[in-house]
This record gives sequence, C-alpha cells and structure tokens, in this order.
Amino acid sequence: MAPVATTDSSSSSNGAANGIAQRKAEARVLINPFYSPDSSADDKDDNYPYAQYKPKFPDVHWAPLEEFPVTDRGLRADPSKKNLLSAATKIKHLTPAIGTILKGVDLRQLSEAQKDELALLVAERGVVFFRDQEIDIHGQLDLARHFGRLHKHATTPIPRNGLEEVHVVYNDHARKPDPQAFSKLELWHTDVSYELQPPGTTSLKVITGPEFGGDTLWSSGYAVYSSLSPGFQKYLEGLTALHSAVAQAEGSRAAGLTVRREPIESVHPVVRVHPVTGWKSVYVNHGFTRRIIGVPKAESNAILQFLFHQFSENPDFQARFHWKPNSVAIWDNRVVNHTATFDFWPQTRHALRATPHGERPISVADFEAQTGRQAQDRLVALNLADNQAKDTGNGPKTYND
Ligand code: SIN
Repeated sequence: MAPVATTDSSSSSNGAANGIAQRKAEARVLINPFYSPDSSADDKDDNYPYAQYKPKFPDVHWAPLEEFPVTDRGLRADPSKKNLLSAATKIKHLTPAIGTILKGVDLRQLSEAQKDELALLVAERGVVFFRDQEIDIHGQLDLARHFGRLHKHATTPIPRNGLEEVHVVYNDHARKPDPQAFSKLELWHTDVSYELQPPGTTSLKVITGPEFGGDTLWSSGYAVYSSLSPGFQKYLEGLTALHSAVAQAEGSRAAGLTVRREPIESVHPVVRVHPVTGWKSVYVNHGFTRRIIGVPKAESNAILQFLFHQFSENPDFQARFHWKPNSVAIWDNRVVNHTATFDFWPQTRHALRATPHGERPISVADFEAQTGRQAQDRLVALNLADNQAKDTGNGPKTYND
C-alpha cells in the first residue's frame, strides 16, 4: 500500500490534507542543528581526507515510499549468538538496560550468521558499539542492506560523492549551534519515525570527531515501558500516535533547501512490539510524535510530555557513548530514542549513517494475533522484574548525595 499524506485521517478532525496544512502552520521555522551546512561549494579544504563525504543537498525529487514486506534478520539468528559472541575478545554491557561494547570484532569480516546474530543482539541491547572499525561507507551500506532496504532521507544531506542512501552528519567551525533553535529535550528522537516503515538496525560511523564532547546518548523504550504501572502500560498499549515529517520539511524549505520527497504523517502504536524479541517498547519521540489519536488534546499533551521526559531524564534507561574516529554504533531505532550533543564547537564532527527500513510498527494486539506469541515486558522476559522496584516513592531518599 502506498503511504498517503496522512495514514489515518482520524488524526485530524479536518481530514488528512488539512492535518498536514495545520502542521505546516504550526511548524516553528527553526534551523535544526542536524541540518548541516551545504559544503558542495569548494571550501578550499583540500587537505581534508573525507572531503567526498562532506554534505550536499541535491536538488532532486523522489516518489513517495511504497509499503513492502520485511522479515527481520534477527529471526534467523541462533538465540545464543555464539557465532558473533565467540568472535569477540570482550563483551561489556554499559548499563543493565541498554548498550553493549563488542571488542575484537571487525565489521568487514562478519559471516551471514554473525550478521543475523548482530541484529538480534542490537534488538536486545538497544545499541551496540565497536571501536577501530576500518569498514568504509560501501561496506557499511552493504552491512545495512543485510538488515533491510535502505532509507533515503528526504531532507538531510547526502555525501558530495552522491551516495543517496547515506545520511551525513557534519558540523565544523562554520556552524555554531544555536541554543534558540531547539531545547535539549526536543533533540531526542528516533530516526524518521513518521515513515510508514521506520528504520530498524541503523549504523553510524564517526570519521572525524572531537577529542572530547560530541557524545551521543540513547534511551531505551523497553525500559520506559517496564518502569510504568500495569494499568498505565495497558492504557498505552491501546493507543496510537501521529508522527509527522512536516516540521522537518518546513525547516528545510525555510533554509532554502530542496525537500526531496513530500513529507508524510503516519499513525503508529504508542507501544510497539519488537518482531524478534517480542518485547514491548514505548514508541514516541519528541522529534516527530505530534499527538495521541482519539483522546483530548490536553491528555495527549500531558502523556507525550511525560513519556518524552522519561526518555530524556531517567539515567537508568540511558547509555552515553564518546566517539573516536572509526567508532561505529549500531542501534535499533524501533526500541530506543537518541540525541547527539552539540558541545564541541568549533571542532569538526563528521559521521555517516546507513538506515535500513524495518516493518510497519506492530501493536501488542496485532503482534499476538499475527504470531501467536505473547508480547512481553523485557524485565519479565529476563526474570528481572522482581529485582526492579517500581518507583513507589517509598525508596531511599538520599539519591542526591
Ligand atoms: C542521528 O540522529 O542519527 C545522528 C546522531 C549523532 O549525530 O550522534
């Protein structure tokens, strides 16, 4: 099915088209720090070894994306992940909830079985990190294709060498972050969640980065779900929310850039189930989720703000990574939110992302009906639920020591 401008007209009392128009009117025209400057003009930076990966914004137009079937590679993985894990010299979890560093693995050398197990590991841990990776962008794209058809971003830059499936992250001395543009809360997002089939197993390689600063943080949607009371979990499981590309596209147009594919809006479940782990994850993000469908606006605002703050404020749900050149992070966009930090000006930070599409997000009810499996709370599935007291307010009061 081809995505229409808004995939559920109930999202707007005026219908789909007016919904988009309304969002355009509402869109604050701001310069997003993710919109890197166009470096397609000769900047005389002849000595920079990665000049061919500097950002450009081609003036091209693409057709709307069509829906297509996806079978996650993690479903083929050996659950023990023995092929991948036995190749690692060290496996280090960053926090109980999220993030693992694999040492001694060369991403250029993975077998098909190891790639499938990597998809499973990333689905379980949310994000997996690798250092000292020589894989080039062609190898990174090939690895990403193993996980799914590659997404082409409608507004963010591609490299000068024309690889349209690459999302370029680039900031240098010429671009000082503008604190008036976005609050830190607003920068938390999951990539392009407005698409009908938002991304799954996504990779970013930093090719140039600051000695310190420029970290990225990820926050687990599984952990947000697990932290909620049973009644609230159940309530959220019945809800859907509107995700919109409109503000991002309007921001691009305001900056004089071509929007390469018309913005769409999609309605996704507020709690989605990962097709491989079967775990429930809260799937909203400040970047693109605009409203919960079918509830009063004030209720939608309050719930979304609460959930956005859970992702961004609760350190128990988060992992933070300091990049070095040749570090690679692979995260599962279905089950985490993330944010970059912009504390490194005037230094250069340059990274390349490959972004495979995942399945259309599956609600708890649909997952259980389609698979016959019971969707689970991650902590229950890992037999950790009893060890993690819900926040009753009766816990120790000396957290600020
Ligand atoms: C992204 O949002 O994919 C980029 C994150 C980063 O620059 O750290």
